Formats: sequence, C-alpha cells, structure tokens
Amino acid sequence: MDRIRIKGGRPLSGTIPISGAKNAALPLMAAALLSERPLALAGVPNLADIDTMARLLAELGVEIEIEAEGKGADRGLRLAARDVKSLVAPYDLVRKMRASVLVLGPLLARFGKAKVSLPGGCAIGTRPIDLHLAGLQQLGARIELTDGYVVAAAPKGLVGAEIQIAKVSVGATENLMMAASLARGRTVLDNAAREPEIEDLAECLNAMGARVQGAGGNRIVIDGVERLGGAAHRVLPDRIEAATYALAAAVAGGEVTLRGASALHLGAVLERLQAAGAEIEELPDGLRIARNGTRPRGVDVMTQPFPGFPTDVQAQMMALAAIAEGASMITETVFENRFMHVPELARMGANITVHGASAIVRGVAVLRGAPVMATDLRASVSLVLAGLAAEGETVVNRVYHLDRGYERLEAKLAAAGAEVERLRERG
Ligand code: EPZ
Repeated sequence: MDRIRIKGGRPLSGTIPISGAKNAALPLMAAALLSERPLALAGVPNLADIDTMARLLAELGVEIEIEAEGKGADRGLRLAARDVKSLVAPYDLVRKMRASVLVLGPLLARFGKAKVSLPGGCAIGTRPIDLHLAGLQQLGARIELTDGYVVAAAPKGLVGAEIQIAKVSVGATENLMMAASLARGRTVLDNAAREPEIEDLAECLNAMGARVQGAGGNRIVIDGVERLGGAAHRVLPDRIEAATYALAAAVAGGEVTLRGASALHLGAVLERLQAAGAEIEELPDGLRIARNGTRPRGVDVMTQPFPGFPTDVQAQMMALAAIAEGASMITETVFENRFMHVPELARMGANITVHGASAIVRGVAVLRGAPVMATDLRASVSLVLAGLAAEGETVVNRVYHLDRGYERLEAKLAAAGAEVERLRERG
C-alpha cells in the first residue's frame, strides 16, 4: 500500500487548483440512469470513488466514455443509460462505496424495480439508509430487505407525495429528488438537506427536463415528468477539498490561492478560520488564504448540516486546533464515530481529550512527525495537514483512503511548497 511522506516546517505558497466535487459528481453520475439520452459531465475529478461508481454503472449496462482529459484535472464523462441490462447493485461494489445506494431512486423511478445491497456501516458510523427507504415507500414503492439487499418495486410507477424527512440527510434528499423527478404528480421534500451539491444535482436534473424547485432550501418541490432527456453539465468545485487546502495553509503557515474555490459554499469554514487568525480574501476566480507569523488561536467548532460547519472538515480543523494558542472544543453532531484521527494526532504530540461527541484540544507549540495510520478519508488528510506543521518526518500509511477523495494531493501540496512525496509500495 502506498504511503505519503511529509517533511514538516515549510510554509505554503502559490496556487492550488480546486477539482470538481466528489460529492456532486457521484449523484450526478447516478442521475444518468434516469434517461435513455446521454448525460455529458465536465469537471469530473479523477478519484477512486468516481471509478467505483463508473464500474457500478457499467455493470448495470450504462455506456461510459471518458472524454479527452482536459488540461490539468479537468476531465469529461459521457454516460448513456440507453440499454440498462441489470437492476442489481451488488454487495461487493456497494460495500466499497456507500454512495452506490444513490442508484436506488433512479432505477426504481425509471424501471419500476431495483435490487441494491444494503451498504453496511463504515468507519465513521452505522450510516443507515432508513430515511431513503421511508421516502421511497411514501412514493408508493414496495420495499423488502432480503439477504442483505433492498428489493424495491413500483410496478405501477411512483406517485408524488408530501415527504417529511425525519433527519437532515444529503443522500436521502438526493435519492428522493431523483426518484420524484419521474413520479406522477407533485412531491414535496420537507426538511431537505441544503448542501450545494444538492443544488448542483437539481440544476442538472432540470437541464434534463425535470421540474425541481427550491433545491438549496429545506423545502424542495418536484413535479414529475414522463421522461427525461440528455444534458451537459459541469460539476461544481469541491468545497471540502477547498476547505482542506485552506486549512493546510492555516496549519503550515504562508499564503495560498485556491483557484476555483467559492466563498459562497465555505461561509462557516471561512468564519472559523478568520476567528483562528487566518486572513481570507475573495478573488474573482477563487480565494486567498494567509497565515503568516502569528500562531493560530484556538476556536470552538460544532459540525452541522449545511450551511453550518461541515462534518467533512472537522478532522482538518482539529489539526489546526492541535497547534493553536489556547484550547478549542470541537463537537461532532452528524456522525457518531468521527474522531479516529484523535489517537493518531496524539502520537504526534497533540493534546486532545474526547468526551462523547466533543473533543477538547489544548494547542501545543510543536508537533513531532511520526508514522501514522489513516482510517477514513478526512481523518487521513488531517494527518497530512498535521505533518505539514510537525517537526521532522511524518509517514501516513493506507493512503488509499486519501485517493478516494483527493485528486493528486501530494502533487498539489508539493506545487505549493510542501515537502511531500508518495512512497509507492512495490507489488
Ligand atoms: C454525504 O453522506 C457525504 N457523502 C458525506 O461525505 C458527508 O459527510 C455527509 O453527506 C454529511 O454531509 C456523499 O455525498 C457521497 P447523510 P450521506 O445522509 O448522504 C444519518 C466524505 O467524506 N442517516 O447526510 O451518507 C447518518 O447516519 C463523505 O466525502 C440516517 O440516520 O450523509 C448521519 O448520521 C463522508 N438515515 C446523518 O444522517 C439515513 O437514511 C447524515 O447523513 C441516512 C442518513
């Protein structure tokens, strides 16, 4: 397994290009199942999770072409679900990536049935899909759970309904929005998630001929249509990747320009970064983040659904808190087990005490590099960030977690002045 080695102590400088959003591209790829006409996606990031979704869709019979790799990270995917030959999403693919469950709504809406493996838990929590299934039942689907699979049927098609989603859920909102786009009549999603990726999906669905209003708010109205057509859509920039590199600059010190980052999608993160002492400047094509000289200050953070502070940036914020002046209280309200980076940061000298859903971080002046273990995507990258500031050398193991969500991470950091390299394991 590849590893990443970081020699700490170097400030960052230069420009980091932000890629298309993983968590937008995944549902957008699933949306291709809703139509027999091709969907052309631009700005698709080159990530392991995207490859997994492409493999799943290909197994279902979707024709996928990777269009000419544009300059840098820009790449296009053309997906055509003209001849779908299978309606089964198998366990071995779904367990690798939970977002596979996003094919359930589209398959059910277009073909009247679907068989999708239950995803099972993952490192950060049990992550059930009960809200997805409850909503699909309200749209008229019959749902059975057999042999670890969800077997869904709607032989007469789906019928629009008023759905109160019991808990804010990005995936449930996406699955139900896609399913409702081909249901008969009107569907209202109350307590919908408001993430920008949901707005991006709605924009693409409407380009395909759907009638979705209110995405980005907590009440989305979908008027079903007979069929959807093709479309061309550019994936919006990855706000979590941008937040990660903004924090890298705050942790390592220096000044970076994040090309393609949008302040609109990063409000809560930028507010906390400024409170910690970083300087933020909005540019015409991105953001400039600087932290020179003065040590960052400890700040409190509580993760919330958008527009609150993103749970996907909690681990990275903890790397900043670890070296800040003073204490920070970091509370994780979205997932039940998302502090796996704590023991690894502690091995680098961080002083962190976890009390249930909160971690008290008492900043230390110096972290020391060490061999550390990655456990999930965002925990892994927080170890890389800590390595940027640590004295000496940090080697992060199991970087396949990183490859799921960060495109060319070591190349982007090295181009911004970090001393970081990938150690390829032979065999
Ligand atoms: C999406 O996951 C993201 N993944 C996650 O990013 C992100 O952390 C999460 O949203 C929250 O923002 C993708 O978009 C592919 P949820 P999702 O449904 O949709 C509970 C990353 O690092 N829940 O909003 O699975 C759930 O257990 C990943 O890129 C139910 O109880 O998240 C969690 O506690 C990690 N029942 C909370 O809701 C359900 O049916 C929020 O989950 C669904 C969810």
